[in-house]
Amino acid sequence: MARSDRTRQRRLDRRSGYGAGYGCERLTIRDSRPWVCRQAHGRTLELAAGTGLNFPWYASDVELSAVDLDPERLAVAAARAQARGQTVHLGVADGRRLPFDDDTFDAVVCTLALCDVDDRSGTLAELHRVVRPGGSLLLLDHLEPRWRHGRPATLAERVGFTLVQRQRLWAGYFERVRLQKPG
Ligand SMILES: C[S@@+](CC[C@H](N)C(=O)[O-])C[C@H]1O[C@@H](n2cnc3c(N)ncnc32)[C@H](O)[C@@H]1O
Repeated sequence: MARSDRTRQRRLDRRSGYGAGYGCERLTIRDSRPWVCRQAHGRTLELAAGTGLNFPWYASDVELSAVDLDPERLAVAAARAQARGQTVHLGVADGRRLPFDDDTFDAVVCTLALCDVDDRSGTLAELHRVVRPGGSLLLLDHLEPRWRHGRPATLAERVGFTLVQRQRLWAGYFERVRLQKPG
């Protein structure tokens, strides 16, 4: 990779991950990227994938699609996948209107991104639409004032998911959860 590309990747990684560019994710979210990604199997959608910081953590049986609103970050994600020899179907899309049929995915992943999304309940309802019955929703998020209306796990339950596992880190500042679409 050219030096200018590496610089752009580091700049965008810093804006995407939780201190990814500084290597301090180990202190903040700890092992949450592998915790989330290793529970995904089969056809998997990553919503708001950013620069693809999660890509290294998926199991080899995962057939991965990844979308984001930002084409510049997706270009970094594409370079990351290519450098790893990993096939990822990438596309620009808004989480509120996903270009996929109902019940398409075995798992949907979203990390550190629902805080950026304006219509979180609408987005979670859209994730509920595209995941198959019995499929998983895997989330990692951090505390923010808007969560007084309900953290992502609670909002996801309101749109029809069932909570399977919920873990809090950093005295609850971070939360990682696995939910399931009943059926
Ligand atoms: C803080 S970054 C996190 C990126 C990545 N998930 C990670 O863990 O490194 C938030 C991402 O959400 C994306 N995003 C925000 N609103 C979105 C929406 N409505 N639909 C799709 N992506 C969105 C942004 O473009 C950005 O890449």
